[in-house]
Amino acid sequence: MANTWARVPIEPQTVNAPLSGSAIFLVVRIAESDEALAAVRGVISDIGGLVRAVGFRDLGGQLSCIVGIGRAAWDRLGRPTRPSQLHPFAAVRGAVHTAVSTPGDLLFHIRADAPDMCFELERLLLEKLGANVTVEDEVSGFRYFDARDLLGFVDGTENPTGAAMEHDTLIGGEDAEFAGGSYVVVQKYLHDLTSWAKLSVAEQERIIGRTKLDNVELDPSERPSHKDLNTIVDAEGVEHDILRDNMPFGSPGAGEFGTYFIGYAADLSTIEKMLERMFIGAPPGQHDRILDFSKAVTGSTYFVPSNDLLESLAD
Ligand code: HEM
Repeated sequence: MANTWARVPIEPQTVNAPLSGSAIFLVVRIAESDEALAAVRGVISDIGGLVRAVGFRDLGGQLSCIVGIGRAAWDRLGRPTRPSQLHPFAAVRGAVHTAVSTPGDLLFHIRADAPDMCFELERLLLEKLGANVTVEDEVSGFRYFDARDLLGFVDGTENPTGAAMEHDTLIGGEDAEFAGGSYVVVQKYLHDLTSWAKLSVAEQERIIGRTKLDNVELDPSERPSHKDLNTIVDAEGVEHDILRDNMPFGSPGAGEFGTYFIGYAADLSTIEKMLERMFIGAPPGQHDRILDFSKAVTGSTYFVPSNDLLESLAD
């Protein structure tokens, strides 16, 4: 995918839009009626108009927006075919921790350098959607110093770049009708920072699989680290990556500290494998210890159509 953000605004559905200082993750449910569906179809197919209206007001603001469509909503759109891997998020139940599945018809992933642009786009979007949707979840994330999560570790280092990013995130000839699209999984995690802070830094580093201060990768350990569990290598020795754009969020006054996980992949099963390895463990029983301090409170899956396909949903 060309670097379309060289021009303002960034074309909607640009999965590899730049990492930003702020983001909003908005999950909505579409009302039952056909009228509501028709109205929503009109708004999302013309999301580019809204992105242009807000994005052009700050040429350096790097506003971008991605619309993801859940399985039930896709089926309601009455298209003759469905992206081959699109299904609802299936809960992953480990012996100790569960990746819950929660409702959502549409995901809006809004990114910009500053929160005002994200806010403005969300405000106008929800005004247009009106009573045709109900908000299931809304999270405003912020970049925390040198891209750290609230556990204190640099998050996002091993993301694919360049041609590998396109290969890992965009559907190709394997599902040609939906080429240029992507799958996206989101989960909202809440951290127990009090317990986390009781661990030594060395223990925290063993859990994550990287050093805390200078972000250097550690060798695989006996009890697999978060990094080890999320390194997916197939029988041919090929590593399968995803693109993450996690954001910290929280409210110290309310005692809420979280990470909003968002992962894009051309092959949804890669993310599902990661979740199985984290929650069930690899080998089973040895779950990701990040989960002892981080509870998944939402989980949902969406298909991200290419911008052309999104626009054609109006027809
Ligand atoms: C509480 C939620 C999470 C936190 C705080 C978190 C944090 C981190 C950190 C600090 C790293 C190391 C630096 C990096 O390469 O980014 C990392 C790596 C990674 N995480 Fe997470 N993560 C979370 C959830 C998830 C989930 C749910 C998945 C997948 C379903 C995932 C997939 C990955 C992958 C693929 C890597 C890179 C592994 C590698 O190749 O080295 N993470 N994560």
